[in-house]
Amino acid sequence: MLMTTKPMFDLAYEGEFGIGAFNVNNMEITQGIIEACAAEKSPCILQISKGARSYANMRFLRKIIDACVEEYPDVPIAIHLDHGDTVDLVQTCIDDKFTSVMIDGSHHDYEQNVELSRKSVEVAHAAGVTVEAELGMLGGIEEDVVGLDAAEYEKNVEQFLTDPDEAKDFAQRTGIDSLAVAIGTSHGAFKFTTEAKLAFDRIEAIMKTCPGLPLVMHGSSSVPREFIDLINKYGGDMPNAMGVPEDQIAMAVRKYGVCKVNIDTDLRLALTAKIREVFATKPSEFDPRKYLGPGRDAIVKMVQRKLHMLNSAGKAAEVAAQWEKLGKPMPNSYK
Ligand code: G3H
Ligand code: 13P
Ligand code: ZN
Repeated sequence: MLMTTKPMFDLAYEGEFGIGAFNVNNMEITQGIIEACAAEKSPCILQISKGARSYANMRFLRKIIDACVEEYPDVPIAIHLDHGDTVDLVQTCIDDKFTSVMIDGSHHDYEQNVELSRKSVEVAHAAGVTVEAELGMLGGIEEDVVGLDAAEYEKNVEQFLTDPDEAKDFAQRTGIDSLAVAIGTSHGAFKFTTEAKLAFDRIEAIMKTCPGLPLVMHGSSSVPREFIDLINKYGGDMPNAMGVPEDQIAMAVRKYGVCKVNIDTDLRLALTAKIREVFATKPSEFDPRKYLGPGRDAIVKMVQRKLHMLNSAGKAAEVAAQWEKLGKPMPNSYK
């Protein structure tokens, strides 16, 4: 069942669980995610980056997601733009029937970020679509912009974390529905070089200045050791990969206001590890179903594990009831 993120966050903020936001790029990844959510009776956010749009062509992704909604009517699903960078892209996604969008102006200076986010909220809210924006800077993908490698980001992380007072001003001036915060995570498989740790004191401070505002954690892959080992065993080269420990993510959603947890890298690792394994152990195999199939199975298991970590397993009916209670306000594009 399609919906905005509103009923999900309404419950997640107080309910000691978080919503997994999984990046989708193709059919197998999307099937793996939705199958896991159906098995675990969990809501989910299917998110599409600008790169995914251009890789897969939005019309194809749209049909795959429509199939998820039809095949699994009991799974609450939001379709979300990940890291949108312009108001034009936000508008295009609204027209493409997304139910939620992210505008990421975190690389701009503060006032530009406010303006870009405020304008995005204006167009999205007029269309009945929820909006996430970002304040502070993550490492990983964003490291290029500030010219820092992972170790340097980690060393200077304090200066990139979200400022709690700025967050309050930002939320008030933009009218956003949720805020992506920099709390020590990075995108990708190399998040920490020494100690893997979230800045819980910073989350607490932001919750004090922005009470009730749903927080979003990007860069939340855990980079499970067994998948890195499998990749390296079968010809890969990913030394020193490190993610966010799962117990810390579990704490962020249970004890703090983190309502949305973004996961992409772990899905990529699961798919890649399994494909590598098949190629290495069955070198004569050339049927894509025989290597994409095991990859998809690994994604199902990986996502099931995440849904338990997020404590969202079993929450589908509650979220559906909250959506019902809100009067199912679908975006205008659906009317
Ligand atoms: O935050 C970034 C996501 O992992 C999406 O990555 O832009 O390569 O699709 P992508
Ligand atoms: P990971 O790279 O940790 O999976 O983070 C994904 C993300 O934040 C997508 O927006
Ligand atoms: Zn992200």
